[in-house]
Amino acid sequence: MNSEPIYILGIESSCDDTSAAILCNEKVLSNVVANQEIHTAYGGVVPELASRAHQQNIIPVVQQAIQKANIDKNQLNAIAFTRGPGLMGSLLVGTSFAKSFAMGLDIPLIGVNHMQAHILAHFIDDENHNKPPFPFLCLTISGGHTQIVKVNDYFEMEVLGETLDDAVGEAFDKSAKILGLPYPGGPLIDKYAQLGNPKAYQFTKPRVGKLEFSFSGLKTGILRFIEKNVKENPNFIKENLHDICASIQHTIVEILLDKLKNTVKQTGIKHIAIAGGVSANSEIRKVLKESETNFGWTTYIPKFEYTTDNAAMIGISGYLAYQQNKFSDIDTVATARLKVTE
Ligand code: KG4
Ligand code: ZN
Repeated sequence: MNSEPIYILGIESSCDDTSAAILCNEKVLSNVVANQEIHTAYGGVVPELASRAHQQNIIPVVQQAIQKANIDKNQLNAIAFTRGPGLMGSLLVGTSFAKSFAMGLDIPLIGVNHMQAHILAHFIDDENHNKPPFPFLCLTISGGHTQIVKVNDYFEMEVLGETLDDAVGEAFDKSAKILGLPYPGGPLIDKYAQLGNPKAYQFTKPRVGKLEFSFSGLKTGILRFIEKNVKENPNFIKENLHDICASIQHTIVEILLDKLKNTVKQTGIKHIAIAGGVSANSEIRKVLKESETNFGWTTYIPKFEYTTDNAAMIGISGYLAYQQNKFSDIDTVATARLKVTE
């Protein structure tokens, strides 16, 4: 095997964050993320605006990542980019940039599956983080996905359970919207929940299969509950915001933990990781940590900056693919829909 250090440029542009990272083997030298504030005013991501913002951000973000890593672009061994899933217009910006840059530098190109990358972020070298052994279970929770994945190897994954309707991130964001909070509301629910009573209000949990999720009924339940109470007291939300947020968060986290417990029971696997934007949630992080003593699990909680969309996770996936000579052709195309198993 090659003992020279391998430098990978990772590029992520699947949704509304433009990000570039440089890795030297499994170590992150830089990870630059440009968030797009523009969507806040619209209460959700507007695809056309996202694509336009990516076009503006991509060159400065890549330039900054290279500068921060203190390397020269000619040292790069390969360029990894998100090929899907995501918004087509957004993906195209990263894909086209990655292709032209790789062609210009005459280095290989590596197309990365965004959902696999969220999981593979656990293999970034970090002194405060242990890497999970195969096979392990990963609860992948983001704005677009809610899955329990059995990870047999870096690029060999099986979906054991997933949502029948909304993703858990959507459940957070839609609940926040009902409360009049701006997009994305997930982090705000987390913030207000800190000072609230999680048992103040009860919401009905969905009745679905043991490894399945469903969040659309919960969202409707929350909407009806708020409508009823606001009718009686127009200041209900304002006066009880902390308790409402804590109760919503508590219900969602309990659903997630119940499903993990079912999966552990079914598979006997007790190495449990979480990944994706919602794994930034402080309650899920706390509950998972506690499950080490409560249930004897070994848990893997990603560093905060590798939870929401970032290019470091694309970079590590690129590095792992590089080790296995998994390269993409220059005519490779972006794909809006892509399963974690593809
Ligand atoms: O992985 P991600 O950045 O993008 C997708 O690939 O979807 O996930 C974004 C989702 C959003 O729904 C956002 O509200 C949620 O992650 N999120 C959180 C928190 N931080 C981000 N949800 C709850 N608590 C948080 N602290
Ligand atoms: Zn994501």
